[in-house]
Amino acid sequence: MRYLVISDIHSNLEALQTALAAAPEHDFVLNLGDVVGYGASPNEVVKIAKELNGPIVRGNHDKACSGLGDTFGFNAVADRAVSWTVETLTPENRDWVRRLEHGPVNIPQFAGGQCVHGSPIDEDDYLLSSAAAFEAFRDDKTQLTFYGHTHVQGGYVLRNGYVEQVRPKYTTATNEETWEMPLQDDGRYLINPGSIGQPRDGDWRAGFALFDSEAKVVKFYRVPYPVEVAQHRILAAELPEYLAVRLRTGR
Ligand SMILES: [Fe+2]
Repeated sequence: MRYLVISDIHSNLEALQTALAAAPEHDFVLNLGDVVGYGASPNEVVKIAKELNGPIVRGNHDKACSGLGDTFGFNAVADRAVSWTVETLTPENRDWVRRLEHGPVNIPQFAGGQCVHGSPIDEDDYLLSSAAAFEAFRDDKTQLTFYGHTHVQGGYVLRNGYVEQVRPKYTTATNEETWEMPLQDDGRYLINPGSIGQPRDGDWRAGFALFDSEAKVVKFYRVPYPVEVAQHRILAAELPEYLAVRLRTGR
């Protein structure tokens, strides 16, 4: 099976359309949440997300933007984006977002794999360090977990008792690029495909991954997209300017 793995679209229509057009053939789409929040195209993005073939786990912004949970821990910019998204989502789309599943969710037709938003332990945890990854590996024995939430492409491998961080290596800042990571049978993996719509790893290009379960390879992608169109939409919607600026810096 070939799985397209996407996460943290954050209402960025231009990034999502570009990523889907660039994605190779696949059997399922694994969507790791934060479909909405921050960007200016929540209804358009939900329309596309509904039609993708595969599981979707909810993210913290999906919860906040659909009236589930509160915005405790959100900064003023995120809070403003949540209010705007709550007002902008159609009632039908808000209801669809509210019904997204709590992770972990199993990867279809693959034994030993799961999808989460934050971590296998808590959907709102951030896996931002080897120490956090080690705790997750200790408390959850699943061999392969796809996670999002950090907006940082890469992940962690546990092998022989040690955790190693993985970051794809690219050679340009503007071209479409890929980076392959073969999976070893004696390793356990926490893998983040990157953020489609608001990367925070210093690379503005939309990030996603393809998991080939027969070849046992995860291929990471970065694709340039019309970022200025997404920025213009944010400014036209009178969302905070910072949300437009950060799309270009990837921070
Ligand atoms: Fe997110």
